[in-house]
Amino acid sequence: MKEQLFDPRRKIFIGNNESVMVDFAVNHFIACAKHAIKKYGSFFVALSGGSTPKLIYRKLSSDYRNAIDWKKVVLFWSDERSVGIDHPDSNYKMAIDSGLGNLSIPSHQIFRMEGEKNALHGADEYEKLLYQKLGKRPFDLIMLGMGEDGHTASLFPDTTALGEKDRRVVANWVEKLQTWRITFTIPWINQAENTVLYVIGTKKKERLHDVLYDKSDSYPASKIGTLMHPALWIVDKEASELLLKEDPIRKAS
Ligand code: 6PG
Repeated sequence: MKEQLFDPRRKIFIGNNESVMVDFAVNHFIACAKHAIKKYGSFFVALSGGSTPKLIYRKLSSDYRNAIDWKKVVLFWSDERSVGIDHPDSNYKMAIDSGLGNLSIPSHQIFRMEGEKNALHGADEYEKLLYQKLGKRPFDLIMLGMGEDGHTASLFPDTTALGEKDRRVVANWVEKLQTWRITFTIPWINQAENTVLYVIGTKKKERLHDVLYDKSDSYPASKIGTLMHPALWIVDKEASELLLKEDPIRKAS
């Protein structure tokens, strides 16, 4: 295990293997939940799609099912694909099927993005819902992944949503996938008390390196995190291989 700080807008945890990394991520989730429940009586979290969150949801709903009061948890999603809830690509379906559906979270506290709707309409509705449920309160935790192209949530490189300054949620046309997505925006993600990006596996090592060393923030994922609310990157050793090679501390020793 090794912690490094390349930029004050980020904290990085590197787990020696996938299991250490997932354990750390689960413990971080639980700590955020406990803190918010103590402070507000509820925990507002936005979930993500992707392979690592799936492992986290499984663990939370098995080994850690008694770690927090799930009745106080309120679930949202940070992005969704243009599909309905029965589709294998649905981020909502993935989270619920991975075990979150078996916990005691009241169904009226589970707010999915309606991917089957017209994306522009779906995004407007979801934004209204966020204002209704959260008002000015930011999310306690927004969970995110990073794709091999440096996208996060459904904020893909060269898409219009990246320029959004005012909205919390927008519809985003992704030309290379020829599809619409509904996604949280960068300014809204950056207001959260805690944001976390999970990155796993050797095939992401080049992109992870580029994103973290990119001083011009040209990748969507490099824009996450602020001085006030640094983003936490939780990565495994394989994904971090190139970061360690450039570790100035290691080089100096
Ligand atoms: C989605 C996500 C997306 C995801 C990354 C990483 O809808 O799939 O929200 O941003 O987190 O693509 O996914 P993997 O962890 O599966 O590579």
